[in-house]
Amino acid sequence: MSNNLLKGKRGIIFGALNEKSIAWKVAERAVEEGAKITLSNTPVAVRMGAVKALANKLNCEVVSADATNVADLENVFRKSIDVLGGKIDFILHAIGMSPNVRRRKTYDDLDYNMLDKTLDISAISFHKMIQSAKKLDAINKNGSIIALSYVAAQRTFYGYNDMADAKALLESIARSFGYIYGRESSVRINTISQSPTITTAGEGVKGMDKLYDFANRMSPLGNASAEECADYCIVMFSDLTRKVTMQNLFHDGGFSNVGMSLRAMATYERGLDEYRDENGKIIYG
Ligand SMILES: NC(=O)c1ccc[n+]([C@@H]2O[C@H](COP(=O)([O-])OP(=O)(O)OC[C@H]3O[C@@H](n4cnc5c(N)ncnc54)[C@H](O)[C@@H]3O)[C@@H](O)[C@H]2O)c1
Repeated sequence: MSNNLLKGKRGIIFGALNEKSIAWKVAERAVEEGAKITLSNTPVAVRMGAVKALANKLNCEVVSADATNVADLENVFRKSIDVLGGKIDFILHAIGMSPNVRRRKTYDDLDYNMLDKTLDISAISFHKMIQSAKKLDAINKNGSIIALSYVAAQRTFYGYNDMADAKALLESIARSFGYIYGRESSVRINTISQSPTITTAGEGVKGMDKLYDFANRMSPLGNASAEECADYCIVMFSDLTRKVTMQNLFHDGGFSNVGMSLRAMATYERGLDEYRDENGKIIYG
């Protein structure tokens, strides 16, 4: 259902790869809410992925860019302003990738060249994006910039690996740049910390199915879906949240503030029972 929350606004959505992508859902919702948008992804993703199908469906243009390349990003802003007919009101950074995770390198055996890439793609690209936009004066007053994060920035999750460090940096960039851009041009910058979501990037995380299930059981409201994340992004792009900036906003059904749920405790106890012998003696635990 549309409430025309983004009527008359122009936006750029980075990171829609396929129908599962969170950015895909955000792009669909943004257009439904009255926005005009452009899409951006790497040249390879544009060639191999389904971005063009989304662009056809939403009647919008795709501008290829490697988000670690400043010249590419500047081109996205210039072309988007041209195509959309004016300065930009909102941006979604939905970009993440860790070569260490892909190559199954563990956190105590990281390849440092790969770590550089993880940080560049998943976090520093956010700085490059904002700095490029600011230098080109590409964003309207009261504009809104969002990147997607994960609670592993604050707490340790087995298997999330160097992406945890990338997310911590990403959230820090939102605070540091949010201060500068807010003070100078009333542009707000936030991160949304999303529940585990079954997407191409999500599936790369070791034990994702179990993590998804665990978070779902622990969260009083259950995991937030990609569609629900899109709804939250729309509110954050809209004029209803003009004084929210420099925040990491948890969108996780309450997961981040739960210590132990009754359901999880019961499951844990059942698991312990499996390690008792026939006399009830704990044999391992
Ligand atoms: N899926 C989850 O469980 C989850 C949870 C919390 C946060 N997030 C974050 O949400 C964001 C979107 O991920 P998703 O889950 O929708 O998966 P996804 O795989 O659909 O999206 C990741 C995107 O990053 C793009 N990308 C990779 N390298 C790039 C580069 N150099 N330049 C430009 N784009 C590049 C990919 O092409 C892809 O479109 C990521 O930042 C991810 O960390 C995901």
